[in-house]
Amino acid sequence: MSDTHEIRISGFERPAVCGGEQAVLDACLREGLWLPHSCTQGTCGSCKMRVVSGEVDHRGSSEHALTAEERAAGIALACQASPRTALLLEPVEPVPDDDRERHPLRDFTGTVTALDDIAREIRRIVVELDEPMGFHAGQYAEIAVPGSGLTRQYSMANPPWEPRNLEFHVRRTPGGVATDGWMFTSLRVGDRVELTGPLGDFGLRRQEEPAILIGGGTGLAPLKSIARDALEHDLVPELHLYHGGRTEADLYDGEFFRALAAEDPRFRYRPCLSEQEWSGAVGLVTDVVVADFPSCRGMSAYLCGPPAMIEAGTKALKRRRMAPRRIHRERFLDASHRGV
Ligand code: FES
Repeated sequence: MSDTHEIRISGFERPAVCGGEQAVLDACLREGLWLPHSCTQGTCGSCKMRVVSGEVDHRGSSEHALTAEERAAGIALACQASPRTALLLEPVEPVPDDDRERHPLRDFTGTVTALDDIAREIRRIVVELDEPMGFHAGQYAEIAVPGSGLTRQYSMANPPWEPRNLEFHVRRTPGGVATDGWMFTSLRVGDRVELTGPLGDFGLRRQEEPAILIGGGTGLAPLKSIARDALEHDLVPELHLYHGGRTEADLYDGEFFRALAAEDPRFRYRPCLSEQEWSGAVGLVTDVVVADFPSCRGMSAYLCGPPAMIEAGTKALKRRRMAPRRIHRERFLDASHRGV
């Protein structure tokens, strides 16, 4: 086919073949060539590649994520750029050398087996896949919204050792194509769905120091998978999970985490409410964390939730002397922050 091009990545022996309309990242991940990335939407900038030779079409790359100076210097966003010629690329950030297993990106089909309202405007959706999806805890999938040509990103809340039954936590967005227009209205148990995964690099590396997990709203989803995986495989000596909501109506899976804490002395669960007095912690989740830890030196943190929570948490943890390289962040993936 004339409209495909060979892509070589420095450090990898095997090439990928990429269509002229296909994103470089998509082609590489499907070929099993793992490249740094996070959002796949052209906004985070974590997939920057240096074009050593060849020519790309930058397509949807925004000035915000890729400046004119960077383009002029031969940098491209792998999640947006398509090849115009054969390419030789090298990642701007080195590919991390950790012990996590990398799974090729693939398309899947499955059947909805559970659909439950678990908190205010939050649904748990379980999809039984026709084929198992290998992934590491913290990654996400893109679910196709029927009839729209659109996809939406949701983190897997189930652990990787349940690769056939994917659990997603979905927050309703008023007027949202995926939520108001489908998942909270016409979607039924037994319906067929199409999705693509796994994607993303959020996740816990094996470490000697204690870890703090901080989730706001459905930001709990990847942290649930991470917590179960980390405890099962003894990846951390101590794990502190904080889940924030405005009132009790916003929290969910409390019983599950309380039972986990009761049976595993390495695990501690702290739900926090910002707008309701109750028997538990009161305040913004990030304020409760810093009140609990006078010093975070030597610890690491994993945050997932609304951008404001992530920014506040990052600043607070740095004030508590946590090293920036130990602060791992995943923004909300449910498109609600974009209002669609
Ligand atoms: S800009 Fe976020 S993965 Fe490409």
